[in-house]
Amino acid sequence: MQPEKLIIFDTTLRDGEQCPGASLNIKEKLEIARKLALLNVDVIEAGFPVASPGDFESVKQIAEEIRGATIAGLSRALEKDIEATARALEKAESPRIHVFLSTSKVHRDHMVEKAKDEIIEMGVKAIQFARKYCDDVEFSPMDATRTEKDFLADVTREVISAGATTVNIPDTVGYAVPEEFAELIRYLKTTVPNIDQAIISVHCHNDLGLAVANSLAAVQAGARQVECTINGIGERAGNAAMEEIIMAVRTRKDFFKNVYTGIETRHIQPCSKLVSSLTGFFVQRNKAIVGKNAFAHESGIHQHGFLKRKDTFEIMDPADVGGEESELVMGKHSGRNALQNKVQELGYTLDKDELDRVFQEFKILADEKKEIFEDDFHTLIQKQKFSVEQQNTYKLGSLKCAFETGKIPEAQVVLISLDDKEHSASANGDGPVDAIYNAIDKITGLSCRLLDYQVMAKTKGHDAQGEVTVRVQHEKREVLGKGAGVNTLEASALAYVNAINKLLLKSKSGPVEGSELPGP
Ligand code: KIV
Ligand code: ZN
Repeated sequence: MQPEKLIIFDTTLRDGEQCPGASLNIKEKLEIARKLALLNVDVIEAGFPVASPGDFESVKQIAEEIRGATIAGLSRALEKDIEATARALEKAESPRIHVFLSTSKVHRDHMVEKAKDEIIEMGVKAIQFARKYCDDVEFSPMDATRTEKDFLADVTREVISAGATTVNIPDTVGYAVPEEFAELIRYLKTTVPNIDQAIISVHCHNDLGLAVANSLAAVQAGARQVECTINGIGERAGNAAMEEIIMAVRTRKDFFKNVYTGIETRHIQPCSKLVSSLTGFFVQRNKAIVGKNAFAHESGIHQHGFLKRKDTFEIMDPADVGGEESELVMGKHSGRNALQNKVQELGYTLDKDELDRVFQEFKILADEKKEIFEDDFHTLIQKQKFSVEQQNTYKLGSLKCAFETGKIPEAQVVLISLDDKEHSASANGDGPVDAIYNAIDKITGLSCRLLDYQVMAKTKGHDAQGEVTVRVQHEKREVLGKGAGVNTLEASALAYVNAINKLLLKSKSGPVEGSELPGP
């Protein structure tokens, strides 16, 4: 039998972005969508258009720009949701409306408060309505794995008759185990009479750490689409990690003989780094495929074998997933053309102003540190590209911070506001970062709660840039701030100021809409 295409449906920008603290702005979502297109994923679920104006706009922009992949938008089984999704997808080369509706007893009784026949009617109507706008319509019976099997089969049959072209079986709460999940897929394949008229998809959450195993078991049982996210981010414990599914299918072709994917695997690690950096969700060192240690050999015996012959201890070539050592790229004397070429090679598109700013920052950095690596470039570019600079209320003017063992640290900070006025304050703190943040709070008048503070060396060496990520809460809002630089304290101040600017921007644009929606 000829292998069949396994459709890779990426939901990083929808289910991934939906998890607490991962919110991305439109520019960031577009950049991730571009990287997903480079990866050659088949479907990009770009968002949930009715959830908020921001979600609508990002789905719209992604639909307008991205070519090659199908762009999907999520909708509840409601006409207003479907209309919003259809509008957001108007310019897509290949649009898909993805409708979901709860089917399990616990959801029927306590969430949607509908009987079985009402659920079927609602699902059918929604699919028929969506088909007026789009030939490619997917249906997800939410909490499928806790739905009565015979009812799930009824729903599947009816939505296919109504025009669903893909039926996705979500393990919404990560409850399934592989053999049982595969059995469920086989059951649907043999019980639903019109099952051949739709693609069977799976969407597994990772609450028991089984999302990838469940997805792969379903593929063996006949599923031909898997829904997944980069780095496995998503609600609670996350979704099935795309990189793991792809590399399992590729590395074990002997086992997964019935399927292949069209993924350009060399873009996996760059895409993983971008998602991690923009969401602030760090990838654990030992994470399969994309963790820092995924291809590191430490024990003497392993190293000995590996040096003699790679396949003694390595089942994949790191180069196949884009995992070469961060290359030394440019020096102090490199010019603007070299920079432009490098930017393109790294897969970014910068307008002239952005390129100018990156060039200026590059020159400053080249004075501060001898060797500039590819990862330094990612940081420089992301800093310029994703900061909403024109709307920044404050920028860091200067910073002075004294620290001596046994003494209380003290910081003096100057911030410059939009009208070019200088605002200064001094404060003490438990540590230098605390002192800096207290001084900034004095200037802005906001009293923020620091929920998380992380610093990561971007490259090797004592002079490596530190990338600081903070998660800051003010009243009910939570934002992510980022700052980078050779001086970690300055990077810490930049990250905090970045977060403050986002908070001030959000309070100007009103409350976050869509927060009243029941999350899928
Ligand atoms: O987990 C889930 O059930 C979902 C659906 C919307 C597919 O995310
Ligand atoms: Zn989900």
